[in-house]
Amino acid sequence: MSFSSEWLTLREPYDLRARNPDVIAAVLSAFAGQRAVTVVDLACGTGSTLRALMPRLDARQTWRLVDNDLSLLARAPQSSPPALSVTTVPVDLNRDLEVALDGPADLVTTSALLDLVSDEWLERLAIEAAARRLPVYAALSYDGRIEMTPAVPGDRVMIAAVNAHQRTDKGFGPALGPIAAKAAVARFQRVGYSVVQGPSDWMFETSDCDIQLEMLSGWATAARELGTVPLADVIGWLTRRRDLVAAGGSSIRVGHVDLFAAPTRTR
Ligand SMILES: C[S@@+](CC[C@H](N)C(=O)[O-])C[C@H]1O[C@@H](n2cnc3c(N)ncnc32)[C@H](O)[C@@H]1O
Repeated sequence: MSFSSEWLTLREPYDLRARNPDVIAAVLSAFAGQRAVTVVDLACGTGSTLRALMPRLDARQTWRLVDNDLSLLARAPQSSPPALSVTTVPVDLNRDLEVALDGPADLVTTSALLDLVSDEWLERLAIEAAARRLPVYAALSYDGRIEMTPAVPGDRVMIAAVNAHQRTDKGFGPALGPIAAKAAVARFQRVGYSVVQGPSDWMFETSDCDIQLEMLSGWATAARELGTVPLADVIGWLTRRRDLVAAGGSSIRVGHVDLFAAPTRTR
């Protein structure tokens, strides 16, 4: 599945605002006093997690940015010595997760990835992280909650279609979609990790028109691909919702969850 840099750029400020402060505080506290930190960012896109975390981590930082999309990697931040060293690593994480994790690392990060992966892949991540005793900061996993204000006819059926589409294969086998964060907490606890988690919902206000329009189109496409909602109903719903956005009368909340999982047991 591919993601445009335009979409990632559009969502990044909302992601940044949504990131759960308690979860970030737990990440920072795990590295307090450490002079150097090496981070592996899985499915980095253009480097949103680096931009979110780097200014807050009080240490010399080495980031390994991993993605399978070369055009996104090409837009990732550059090194700015001596405080920041960045390398980009093209890897298909479905095939070669272990390769991405090999080498020096203190922390694994990812954002907006876990809802795309299968339970099998998530188990692999938990096992491979545990085998290396690596903490994992996984932000912005969609959790199935969509609240649109005001409501219009078709919302309920469209949200159900979106959530069903979320469970389809995104390149890692059948995707966890809305249950990703819950599954991740269970998987990490099973390998002896303690987990701090919290909501990181997107809040689109009436003035956030571009991202609302982009989201609504994406949801309509998902419903069309799923094929369970008649096309005329999808179009009618999209038109009603777009008209509300254009009139400055639509706000949308999209539920997400952030988590920080850290090993507790000694091997
Ligand atoms: C929703 S985007 C999130 C990007 C970034 N973490 C962010 O928050 O802006 C999902 C990312 O997963 C990457 N991705 C999808 N499948 C992948 C795979 N099999 N191997 C490596 N990266 C993959 C995409 O290229 C994309 O950058």
